[in-house]
Amino acid sequence: MPVHIVVGGFFGDEGKGRIAAYLALSRRPWGSARTGATNAGHTVVHRGRVWKLRASPSSFLNPETRLYIARGALVDLEVFLSEVEALGLRGRIWLDYKTGIITSEHVTRERSDQHLMKRIGSTGTGVGTAMVDRVLRRLRLARDYPELEDLVTDTQLEMLEALDQGELLLVEASQGYWLSLYHGTYPYVTSRDTTAAAALSELGLGPRSVERITVVFKAYVTRVGAGPLPGELPHEKAVELGWAEYGTVTGRPRRVAPFNLELAERAIRANTATDMALTKIDRVFPEARCRRSWEELPREARVWIEEVEDKLGIPVTLIGTGEDVECTIDLSREKGME
Ligand code: IMP
Ligand code: MG
Repeated sequence: MPVHIVVGGFFGDEGKGRIAAYLALSRRPWGSARTGATNAGHTVVHRGRVWKLRASPSSFLNPETRLYIARGALVDLEVFLSEVEALGLRGRIWLDYKTGIITSEHVTRERSDQHLMKRIGSTGTGVGTAMVDRVLRRLRLARDYPELEDLVTDTQLEMLEALDQGELLLVEASQGYWLSLYHGTYPYVTSRDTTAAAALSELGLGPRSVERITVVFKAYVTRVGAGPLPGELPHEKAVELGWAEYGTVTGRPRRVAPFNLELAERAIRANTATDMALTKIDRVFPEARCRRSWEELPREARVWIEEVEDKLGIPVTLIGTGEDVECTIDLSREKGME
């Protein structure tokens, strides 16, 4: 039952992309599937190169891993095709024939919706309007586009068959628990559920196929768009702490708050997470920068991580100490997760 899900525990932008990319290189999965839509952006940095992805799984970094887009996902046609060409993914990436397609008309309609753009702070990428069309059963799917012919397959069947053979499938969920349409800070949420269970549903796989659920938290909390953010810091304070960030998709400054145990705890329980990844530890403990073993971490960082682990009750298996995928401490084996 070797499905390994990587899921976000805050408001998105926890660093799921870099964690998934690391796991693709270290666990060498047979395949990797991305759920969600092209409102989400994942940044991957490897050996000095930077990729900003909106459709493809971050696991593209491992050339041996097959790449899939979930059938319950939604992709912007132009964004997807330009990413496939830019990354040279033709022949190793597939949309499901039932994946929903976002067109420029959806983007235009969303951007003219003042409720979404002004009140909610939507990314304006047409995801919500395409989702509406899907619910109304008039959205066109990948199978309806001749230009996608070579890029479409029955991803569910391929994954089911591979799982029967005992292959490892890495699942990259998008956004974070608190942006879930059902469980998040409604109405300040995205247009889908963002849990591990929802990722499985989008893929058409069952809960019993899962062996590991890694929830990703950043060492501090960020949020783009409107809605509650407990402990929010003024922008100048975020700059001073080195926690200022800007959105991958929209370029908007992200709102910032310190790490939040209550938010993390609920995300862990709702996702039945087996373990967690903590990213950007170097932004809180600068001496941790690009350390690659537990022993090399400064003492304060180790104390903080052990405290988080203690309070949240699941092991910290992966620690991000810099943007580069290689700046990762992997404790999976030691903590009995592999
Ligand atoms: P929408 O899903 O684009 O309509 O955006 C709704 C809310 O979710 C806004 O607050 C967005 O900033 C937020 N959001 C959507 N996708 C992401 C993401 O990938 N990362 C962070 N926030 C997101
Ligand atoms: Mg992001």
